[in-house]
Parts: sequence; structure tokens; C-alpha cells
Amino acid sequence: MGSSPLHCLKIGIAGAGGRGGAFRDACQSLGVHIHAVCDTNPQRLDAAAAQFGADQKYTDFGEMLAESNLDAVIIGTPMYLHAEQSIQALERGVHVMSEVTAAVSLQECRRLVQACKQSGAAYMLAENCNYMKPNVIVKEMVTAGLFGQTYYAEGEYLHELKELNELTPWRRRWQTGVNGVTYGTHNLGPILQWMPGDRIIAVCCAGSGHHYRDPRGALYENEDTCVMLCKLASGGLAQVRVDMLSNRPYGLTFKLQGTTGAYESAREHGQPDRVWLQARTRERERWIALDDFEDEFLPPWWKQHAPAALRSGHDGSDYYILLAFLETIAGRRPCPIGIHEAMDMTLPGLISQQSILQNGVWLEVPDTRIW
Ligand SMILES: NC(=O)c1ccc[n+]([C@@H]2O[C@H](COP(=O)([O-])OP(=O)(O)OC[C@H]3O[C@@H](n4cnc5c(N)ncnc54)[C@H](O)[C@@H]3O)[C@@H](O)[C@H]2O)c1
Repeated sequence: MGSSPLHCLKIGIAGAGGRGGAFRDACQSLGVHIHAVCDTNPQRLDAAAAQFGADQKYTDFGEMLAESNLDAVIIGTPMYLHAEQSIQALERGVHVMSEVTAAVSLQECRRLVQACKQSGAAYMLAENCNYMKPNVIVKEMVTAGLFGQTYYAEGEYLHELKELNELTPWRRRWQTGVNGVTYGTHNLGPILQWMPGDRIIAVCCAGSGHHYRDPRGALYENEDTCVMLCKLASGGLAQVRVDMLSNRPYGLTFKLQGTTGAYESAREHGQPDRVWLQARTRERERWIALDDFEDEFLPPWWKQHAPAALRSGHDGSDYYILLAFLETIAGRRPCPIGIHEAMDMTLPGLISQQSILQNGVWLEVPDTRIW
């Protein structure tokens, strides 16, 4: 990004000893200096301060905000802290990039939306899956009209984390300790960007029962697999399966159906993602590798940054999400995942938690644009 004024910004990172610290490579590649780091764990804090070469370090988020005169903060703390810390920062006029999910309750969502309305600072959700290469290519193909009208999508997030639960107990409470979809944004982010102008207006949710116990012998409150059906304003449908308990390999997968095209991501890493496109495929039964469309549809900004980005986490998407945030706060582009998009991705999961309590009844998902 050259020697732009961005490099004079005072940026802080909360949860710097965990996910916040994962942005170190992206910061380095983008030439961003981290002014202050914050983590409640003193050992992790010291290590993060050294890794980032930060000027200041804090064990208390409020103190960091009060003392370090930040322009922007990256919030990489456990999920249940995101909304509260975002609100605190926004109230001080500090730009926020928050990890997913944006909030863990409907009440927090209301307070966060209100804080965004009242603040002059920008809020962005760090849904990095939106920037993964296949997801970006599919988005560009949708924009070019190759899928026709998109009306059905599926997403799965399968991440067995029973051991990780014990190392990060907040997960036991907020990811596997609540029934319903607790972590749906990694799927809904890409799916919603393939359904331009659409939003989820209602959800219903059901689970597969309880087949595992934690080391203390307790059943997880979260059913092993939770499936949420999402009705779109356009009449379309999306299905999201989140499973953090079942014994199996990791999987983050997608399917998309439009009137003239279909997409299926690979089940396994290294296997080809594939598309069928009426305009480009002569035979009805023949899929084409998505990679074949990379030259044509991967946007120039993705290609231009790829050498630096690919040194960062999650296949470069950590770099692109940080880049988008920096460009947003510099006023160079509208925020790509602002508060309403963040709510469009977060609220369906929260409402699914109410649905599953009521035997899978369909429930309306509020539109925060009219709050
Ligand atoms: N987008 C992604 O790809 C991705 C990947 C991993 C995690 N995450 C999200 O990032 C968040 C953090 O996950 P994690 O795996 O790093 O968890 P973690 O528990 O390993 O790390 C969180 C860190 O925050 C610190 N912390 C806790 N309370 C704090 C507070 N009040 N103030 C400052 N620091 C505090 C902890 O000491 C710890 O170092 C979660 O919401 C998770 O969902 C996103």
C-alpha cells in the first residue's frame, strides 16, 4: 500500500495472544504498525507485544481504549466479547474490525446496531471466507450473470473441536453450549454475496441429537449437527449445517444453484471445485474445474495482492479482510461487510437457536435496516 497515511494510523489488537495475533503476517505484508496490543493472559500478551513490535500493551480493553488514543481496533477476543468491545470502541469513535460472530444474542445485536448508528467510526465484520479465492471467483461469475438468477445454496462448517473446547472454555459455553447454529457466518458470508441484494427473512432449525459427552461426562447442549433452513426475501432457499462435535475430518463446503449454472466446492483440500454453466458447457452432464475460470474471473485486486496475501493465514483471506478494513477507514471504498451485512450473517444463527427450542418452527429474522 506504499507509504500512505494508513501507516500513521494507531491500530490496536484485542485478543492479540489468540486470533488477533493471527493477523501479524497480514500486518507485516501490508506494512501496518500495531501500536497497542491487549490480552488478559499476561504471558500471551508479552509474546504478542514482542511479535508485533507494539509500543504499548494492556491486559484491560477499556484501559487500552482510554489511554492509547487508537484510530482503529481489531477485535480477536472470544465470541461473547465481540459486541461489548465493539460498542465500547465505537462509542469512543474508534473504527472496529470484529471477528465473527458479531454478537451472541439478539439484545447485543440491537445495542451494536445502535452504537454503529451513533458513531462516526466504521464497523466491519472480519468474515474472511468472503475473500477466499474460490468464493471470490464464484462471486464475480454471479455478477457477470453466468449463474442466471441464484436461488439455492448450501454451506457446511464441520469442525470437530471437542479438545479445543477444553483449551478455550469459552467455546464450550458459546459454540457447543448453546443449541442451534452458533457459528454460521463462515457459510452465510459467501452465500449471501452470491445472492446479491437478497437477505434471509426467516429460518427454522433442527438437530441430529446428542452422541458425545464432554470430559466431565456432560452432554453438549448443542446437538451434534444442526441444520438451519433459510428462506430468502427473493423466495430462494439456503441450507446451513454446522457441526463442531461429530468425529470426522474438517470440512468447509458450499453449493450454489442458479437458473443457468451450478457450483460445488470440493469436499477435500486439493480436489477441484467445479461448476456447470449453461453458457460455457456443451454437455449437460459435464462439470468444469472452477480453476479454469481463474484467469477470466479472479479480479485484478486479488491477483495483484496474491504474492503478499498468500503468506497470510486462511489461504490469504486474512490479508484481504485486513486490506478491505484499511481501505474502508481510509475512505477509499464503502465498507464491504458493514453492520447490516454483519447482522444478515449473524442474526439467522441466533434466531435458529430460538427455532430449535420451539421444535424447529419457522421464525422471522429481523431486518436491522429498519431498526
Ligand atoms: N475468522 C476465522 O477464520 C477465525 C479463526 C479462528 C477464530 N476465530 C474467532 O476469533 C475469536 C477468538 O478465537 P481464538 O481461537 O483466538 O480463541 P482463544 O481463546 O485461543 O484466544 C482468545 C484470546 O483472547 C484473550 N482474551 C480473553 N478475554 C479477553 C479480554 N477481555 N480482553 C482481551 N483479550 C482477551 C485470551 O487470553 C486469548 O489469548 C473467536 O470469536 C473465534 O470465533 C475466527
